Amino acid sequence: MNDTQPAAYISVQHMSYSYPDGTQALRDIDLKIDRGEFIALIGQNGSGKTTLSKCLNGLYKPSRGAVIVDGLDTRSTSIVQMVRRVGYVFQNPDHQLFSANVWDEIAYGPRNIQLPADEVRARVEEAAAIVGLTSDDYEEHPFFLTKGMRQRVAIASILALQPHAIIVDEPTTGQDIPQSLEIMNFLQRLHDEQGHIIIIVTHDMPIVARYAKRVVAMGQGQVLADGPTAEVFANTPALAQTFVEPPQITQLAQRAAHLGFDPRTLSVDELVQQYLALHDR
Ligand SMILES: Nc1ncnc2c1ncn2[C@@H]1O[C@H](COP(=O)(O)OP(=O)(O)OP(=O)(O)O)[C@@H](O)[C@H]1O
Ligand SMILES: [Mg+2]
Repeated sequence: MNDTQPAAYISVQHMSYSYPDGTQALRDIDLKIDRGEFIALIGQNGSGKTTLSKCLNGLYKPSRGAVIVDGLDTRSTSIVQMVRRVGYVFQNPDHQLFSANVWDEIAYGPRNIQLPADEVRARVEEAAAIVGLTSDDYEEHPFFLTKGMRQRVAIASILALQPHAIIVDEPTTGQDIPQSLEIMNFLQRLHDEQGHIIIIVTHDMPIVARYAKRVVAMGQGQVLADGPTAEVFANTPALAQTFVEPPQITQLAQRAAHLGFDPRTLSVDELVQQYLALHDR
């Protein structure tokens, strides 16, 4: 290939995916994800977000086209190599958790890639600490934890593998607002302090506006809009096709655009600043 651009960390090339029953879930997807990105994958139910996520980490192999991660084609790359590169936290943590206690759950991945015992211990302790689990939690059976705690165990079990890119499918569904913000803030820290690529799959538009720098909006197995968050939210025709509405504050600014407000507004603070500027204060 004659590509003079620096290679993206993840490159999806004309990729389609069909389930064994013949359902075509993804059609001709082209997507490049660079190091350091914080992306939200949005779109209505059934648009293909989870399927695409599982293709990005090699759990599903493309039916057509290719997914290249860190220079490796997912079709010919082992799971052991993939899990070090792209981690996927399941939409429902109960599809991911199967060990008898929290420690074994988080240690499962590092043991599976045959790290030495002291390295496994260090990885588990570090990952548990990042998500706010303490040694008191290690012996707990995941079944007896709250959904929010199980989600954190699921995230820690992926973090322990130290993948460069982390995809979290619906991180805030079923969590109350403080729990949602806690999870999002720690994903933000991983991004800012350790340079991980973070991809959140979500229906929560205020969360998207607050955290994601780029939005990939899907509909019927295709990418219908892709760009900086504010630009995608301001692209009304493209967004309408995805049946997703921008956050209410953005809608307010869009409706008040004739008064001088910016239709790309993402937060109350931005709106207030504009108001003050418009009124020359
Ligand atoms: N195991 C499966 N077998 C067959 N079809 C499936 C399977 N899983 C998903 N699909 C179909 O693939 C399409 C994409 O589903 P997917 O779960 O990727 O959507 P999604 O955007 O994650 O939806 P949601 O927001 O509800 O989680 C849908 O038509 C869905 O019915
Ligand atoms: Mg899904």
